[in-house]
Amino acid sequence: MNRRQVLKWLGSLGFMTAAGYAWLRPRAPEPLPPEQRVGGTQFPTIAISPGPTGVNPLRIPELLEGTLQEGTRRFSLQARNGLTRFFEEFETPTLGINGSYLGPTLRLRCAEPIAIDVHNAMTEETTLHWHGLHVPARMDGGPHQIIPPGGRWLAEFTLDQHASTCWYHSHLHHRTGLQVYSGLAGMIIVESTESDALDLPSQYGVDDVPLILQDRRFDENGALVYPTNVSALMRGVRGETLLVNGTAAPYLEVSTQKLRLRVLNAANARTFTIARSDGQAFALIAGDSSFLESPLQVDRVTLAPGERAEIVLNIVPSEPFFLVNLPVSPYPALYNGQMNGMMRLLDKDAFDVLQIRPAAALAASPEVPAVLTQIARLQEAEATQTRYFELGMGNGPGNGGGREGRGAGGGGNGGGNGGGFGGGVFKLNGMTMDMNRINFEVQEGAVEIWELRNVSPMIHPFHIHKVHFEILDRDGLPPPPEERGLKDTVRVHISETVRVIARFDRYPDPAHAYMYHCHILEHEDHGMMGQFVVV
Ligand code: C2O
Ligand code: CU
Ligand code: CU
Repeated sequence: MNRRQVLKWLGSLGFMTAAGYAWLRPRAPEPLPPEQRVGGTQFPTIAISPGPTGVNPLRIPELLEGTLQEGTRRFSLQARNGLTRFFEEFETPTLGINGSYLGPTLRLRCAEPIAIDVHNAMTEETTLHWHGLHVPARMDGGPHQIIPPGGRWLAEFTLDQHASTCWYHSHLHHRTGLQVYSGLAGMIIVESTESDALDLPSQYGVDDVPLILQDRRFDENGALVYPTNVSALMRGVRGETLLVNGTAAPYLEVSTQKLRLRVLNAANARTFTIARSDGQAFALIAGDSSFLESPLQVDRVTLAPGERAEIVLNIVPSEPFFLVNLPVSPYPALYNGQMNGMMRLLDKDAFDVLQIRPAAALAASPEVPAVLTQIARLQEAEATQTRYFELGMGNGPGNGGGREGRGAGGGGNGGGNGGGFGGGVFKLNGMTMDMNRINFEVQEGAVEIWELRNVSPMIHPFHIHKVHFEILDRDGLPPPPEERGLKDTVRVHISETVRVIARFDRYPDPAHAYMYHCHILEHEDHGMMGQFVVV
């Protein structure tokens, strides 16, 4: 038995004492073995190191509800440099918002004017983007809304969208990966009359709990390591240590019969597949941008970077279990077993995510409502424009070429050259991101279909700012039921073509752009991003 098995065994017998936990507390990782190469590919894998799990209380980010002043709900955020104690023996230099690592959870209500004052108290530039909020482009916090060191930025907007779990994070061009990795991210809970009316667990930190999943690499002095070599950029940055809300090896004490978890993949590159260690099913109630129309019983949920899911678990008194990560499995055969390709090699390890420790007596929880929302579905025939996007990695023939012919009808976003060999540059339609180029204009109110085609050897989670889209199909087949809510980020597997549809309503502004990009942050930082304006 290794330490981890000892811990699980003792924990399951209820034998763990404080001294035992102290003994098993995560230590800083041993110096790392050289990266393993998988099958001679250029993509070495980074596995989460097996160590003691379920030893530290899960940190719950502070909940900010703002203060109401003359009808406006005001929030104040401050990005800062900090030191964080992830491990007993070290303080790690980090970035955080109103704290040393990550930021508070913002609870925002639809229909209420909101003002968020963002102060940059760091020694470097940053931006803060509201991922999943539908706001005017100049309030979006994308790479153009730079806040200099010592500067402030006031974001003002009123939300009119479905209740959902969203998030905020740095979006500084070329430095998003590093800044998010260092801690500049937090959760947003969007509430509306829709969520008010649903009898779902909603006591923050008690039966409604954020889970911000990130993997990190620490060096022997406890400093975060952010590799910048080409192969790390190609595959995206991964680490051996899993952090949940900034907590290593976390556990959560639960006192209710149902537990709602808002799971956010805030990793730079790793895809997670979350399940229960006892194999039991749970209810999937929401994806990125809305509830599902009705709860879906599932035994796992897969999230690529940027994606969110809300799940409700049944809890039995005194029966601890783990939330675990399962290796990326081949996508259902229906969709072609090849499609996870490289990702299956990269994210092939199983590990514990969070220990759930139920109390001996649990407070009753209501049943999950049978109907959660209604989604006004768009019809394909409503679309006035189809745009084509090729997701390429610019490292060989056939990867970089745009589709002139088809792109022309799609607003001129085709074209471009093949990529340089092994340059580590990511491309959309053969082009890399240029801050000075608007890739295309979208007519306000237009319904558009975006056809995303992956011509690279790995998965790309494609994110569109502003809109909440429906997935029309994956390689011509309707999306699985778990993907039938509204979304803002969609996994595009190898060789797959995914079509999404959305209405680009409100906030025309020819002077300010919205972004679309791969949410593997190293891909985004190195060119796999474009921008559009709504006119
Ligand atoms: Cu979550 Cu453009 O980002
Ligand atoms: Cu976004
Ligand atoms: Cu990508």
